Amino acid sequence: MLKIEDVGKCFTDGEKEKWVVNHVNFNVSKGQFISIVGRSGSGKSTLLKMIGGLLKPSAGRIEYEGMDIYSLGDKELADYRCNKIGFVFQDFFLEDNYSVYQNVEVVLMIAGVPLADRRKMVEDALACVDMLDKKDDMAGILSGGEKQRVSIARAIVNNPCVICADEPCGNLDYENGEIVMNLLRKQAQMGKMVILITHNNDDANRTDGKIRLQDGEIVKNELE
Ligand SMILES: Nc1ncnc2c1ncn2[C@@H]1O[C@H](COP(=O)(O)OP(=O)(O)O)[C@@H](O)[C@H]1O
Ligand SMILES: [Mg+2]
Repeated sequence: MLKIEDVGKCFTDGEKEKWVVNHVNFNVSKGQFISIVGRSGSGKSTLLKMIGGLLKPSAGRIEYEGMDIYSLGDKELADYRCNKIGFVFQDFFLEDNYSVYQNVEVVLMIAGVPLADRRKMVEDALACVDMLDKKDDMAGILSGGEKQRVSIARAIVNNPCVICADEPCGNLDYENGEIVMNLLRKQAQMGKMVILITHNNDDANRTDGKIRLQDGEIVKNELE
């Protein structure tokens, strides 16, 4: 279970303080696929970064399995990011000059997974997104849909419990967006918590529940 408890983030711009996320509360359970919607600038990405251990909240707590992740030491927080969270981004963030295989393997290298275990894990993740036959291609030559499938493989390769996807279909056509949505759904069916940021109402409506952010606050919470 992931608990987002009264979370806020304040940025200071010169002397002005701006709360870009404020008093946000919700829970996510294993196997739940939820979406976060809201206009550009409403605080969605900031919230997801805080959940993913990338950005410390200015207020409130993010609890993972009963543990306040930002009360952890640097090493434990890095372990949380490495082992519990998988991120998928709109712009893929692949290394174009690395192969598909290397782009996925790097996560396991950072996590300290021994070489002997890595091959099977990478190949399983690539098979899951139907990219195993392109494992030796350079990431730079792939289509957008293929790139996003590789980035999903990278997000799932270390078997994280939480998948954070920030507008993963934002740069894809309809067909590839469907493939990505189905892969995310499959992850939830396997027991992962999947948190999707999207601008697409059809996609949001197909998740198990959505929350709407406006000026950093939840204005609608349809999670049960
Ligand atoms: N590092 C930062 N410093 C200052 N302001 C920021 C920073 N990151 C985001 N913001 C501001 O916070 C607000 C919310 O941004 P963001 O979470 O990216 O929104 P969304 O993902 O909903 O489009 C925006 O006004 C943005 O300019
Ligand atoms: Mg954003």
